Amino acid sequence: MRHLLSAGDLDRDEALAILDTAERMHALQDREVKKLPPLRGRTIVNLFFEDSTRTRSSFEIAGKWLSADVINVSAKGSSVSKGESLRDTVLTVAAMGIDALVVRHNASGAVARIAGWVDCRVVNAGDGTHEHPTQALLDAYTLRHRLGGTGDAADLADRHIVIVGDITHSRVARSNVLLLRTLGARVTLVAPPTLLPAGVHCWPCETSWDLDAVLSGKAHGDVDAVMMLRVQRERMSGGQGVAGGPVVGFFPTEREYAIGYGLSPERLDLLGESVPVLHPGPMNRGLEISSAAADGVRSAVLDQVRAGVSVRMAVLYRLLAGADEVTV
Ligand code: CP
Repeated sequence: MRHLLSAGDLDRDEALAILDTAERMHALQDREVKKLPPLRGRTIVNLFFEDSTRTRSSFEIAGKWLSADVINVSAKGSSVSKGESLRDTVLTVAAMGIDALVVRHNASGAVARIAGWVDCRVVNAGDGTHEHPTQALLDAYTLRHRLGGTGDAADLADRHIVIVGDITHSRVARSNVLLLRTLGARVTLVAPPTLLPAGVHCWPCETSWDLDAVLSGKAHGDVDAVMMLRVQRERMSGGQGVAGGPVVGFFPTEREYAIGYGLSPERLDLLGESVPVLHPGPMNRGLEISSAAADGVRSAVLDQVRAGVSVRMAVLYRLLAGADEVTV
């Protein structure tokens, strides 16, 4: 693996190898001294042109726990704000002798373009509405643990994962459909017709507009896990929507969206007690997810955050150290 640009780049063996490496990395989280030596002397730049809490900080922690030097560069505060082009910015950073670039950009395909300009390793940390492969890996890690027995990682083959919400604008949904299918799971996407993208019938999954029928198991069979997606206001209204602002054109009102597609306390009761609820964050509480779902016993949200560090350690380790075996 030279770069990680798409979940579709991973075959089953490579995906399982990353998840198994992440298992070993996870042991570090219980230690007082969280430091391993394999990336000593390596330099990783987190180049973020879009806001992030979870992804950027977990890549930084992951690199530091592997002893790499990690530098954060964001569009705000860089020469991008003076009009420097994407290519000039990337070539400038890469010329400093770095080993890996972790990039988030609001344009779909931008990270693949960047990978064609530089000699170092490149990881896609989210490009527009296209892909977010490390999110899909950390979701798979979380599902393997939540669906496994005591401490064991489950095989996701034939598990039924339901992904609900703003599929049209979701790079998380795209990467999850690709990776979960590679791991043998069955995926059903649930959304209002306006939030299912053109061409979704070609994706390797089923679709529905009826959340209650899917969650109750009446429409597509028993449900093993539910992943709620954020309503991405900032990508709506032709790009004029803003976080916290009104949503125009995709559904009548936020109240109607919550009634039709929100994971309310009543909808939680349609699920078995052991069915985990995932959300990549940040969450719009009261819109796509109730606090009862976000904070209840089924919630795997903070497990996902913890898995994010281990999975990103595994990705950086496999890209930069290139070895299968890791001693933790
Ligand atoms: N899930 C995710 O990508 O979160 P951030 O935007 O906070 O990185």
